[in-house]
Amino acid sequence: MFSDPTRLLDALTNAIVERTAIDRILNLGPGLEDPIEEVLALFPSAALRAVDQDVDVCRRLQDQFRANNRVRISHAEASDALTEADATYDLIILRHPNISENKTSWFGALRLVPQALKAEGHFVVTLYDLAELDLLQEATAHSPLREKPGAPYTQVPIALRGQDRYIQIYVTLKDADE
Ligand SMILES: C[S@@+](CC[C@H](N)C(=O)[O-])C[C@H]1O[C@@H](n2cnc3c(N)ncnc32)[C@H](O)[C@@H]1O
Repeated sequence: MFSDPTRLLDALTNAIVERTAIDRILNLGPGLEDPIEEVLALFPSAALRAVDQDVDVCRRLQDQFRANNRVRISHAEASDALTEADATYDLIILRHPNISENKTSWFGALRLVPQALKAEGHFVVTLYDLAELDLLQEATAHSPLREKPGAPYTQVPIALRGQDRYIQIYVTLKDADE
């Protein structure tokens, strides 16, 4: 299956030990195939906000999650969501954003991620080719984000496949480490 989320969910499970401590999740650019229900199941105390710039995507997600009070769908630019006054998240997920096709807007957004994360917050990005990985590393260089050791964050090998071929997990420094 093209959008099989197994690698992403496995990485989240293995890399974030205290999953019940995650209260606020931001899912950027979810499209219609991000595993929102599975992420909610992994983080049982969390509320999730999904932000996409595509109005049709947002309408369909709103219909899908209308009855779920843990989910809020917003039609917005990622950069705007990351700079809102209450943008303080424990976990930000960005799955297969296609950075190279929307380079300017994703570059701007990636630079804003650290300020929207709590201290020791996690930023999880999946990519499907190495050119995107280069772009991500360029955008996050010289930021308070530190790559979390342990890539690809899977306890047993899972074949490279689908949109989550390359998984990067970053953690923001504790205030005292900056
Ligand atoms: C390549 S799709 C990936 C969708 C989904 N995450 C997946 O892996 O199947 C990228 C998604 O990001 C959204 N998007 C692109 N640029 C964005 C931006 N600057 N702010 C918010 N959403 C954006 C698009 O509308 C689209 O739904």
